[in-house]
Amino acid sequence: MAKVTIAIDGPAGAGKSTIAKRIAELKNLLYIDTGAMYRAITLKLLNNNVAIHDKDRIKTILENTNIEFIEGSIFLDDIRVDDEIREPRINENVSEVSAIPLIRETLVGLQRKIAENNNVVMDGRDIGTRVLPDAKYKFFLTASIGERAERRYEELVKKGYGCNYEEVVKEITKRDKIDSERVLDPLQKAEDAILVDTTGKNIAEVIDIIMDEMKSIDS
Ligand code: DC
Repeated sequence: MAKVTIAIDGPAGAGKSTIAKRIAELKNLLYIDTGAMYRAITLKLLNNNVAIHDKDRIKTILENTNIEFIEGSIFLDDIRVDDEIREPRINENVSEVSAIPLIRETLVGLQRKIAENNNVVMDGRDIGTRVLPDAKYKFFLTASIGERAERRYEELVKKGYGCNYEEVVKEITKRDKIDSERVLDPLQKAEDAILVDTTGKNIAEVIDIIMDEMKSIDS
């Protein structure tokens, strides 16, 4: 079978992970959530009280960290951390952590290795531009800030975190700013990515758009 590589990028709350997971099921591909990898490193730095400017300690941490996806879960040093990496303290710090060059370099290398050995659908911020620039299928998902904040708010409330909508708007706006203005691999639509605005669309509608676009690329 020919190699299949699908890159899905976009800002927080655009629906990337829900859509990417579903596409992976439909096309029998491995789903890689690269945001979860940046979150896992953030968790490790916070748990070890490492300051984000402490390059030496970050280097040591990276050399002694193992991140793996097993059956849809993410493991940090052999411990499943699916829930911890979604905590508000991670949301508050992950953008700053993911702007650190050494961290990006390490995780991009790991992501490319996974994609070399598997048929993948990978979501993130720089998949189409940097991690897998040769991916055959590239999508950039977006949605209005109001709708993205609403989705994130509902997700947090469902998990039992006390938060208010205005705070979520603020946090997402701040993350958008850091993610798109950082020097290294900023959040950016690849020139050849297909833009999909998910505002006002349900999951099934977005999946249909993506599956149709892939069919037309194939034909
Ligand atoms: O998709 P997410 O919200 O779980 O991502 C968390 C953070 O990780 C996001 O604010 C930016 C960073 N990230 C990144 O810099 N590059 C990626 N490929 C994926 C995520």
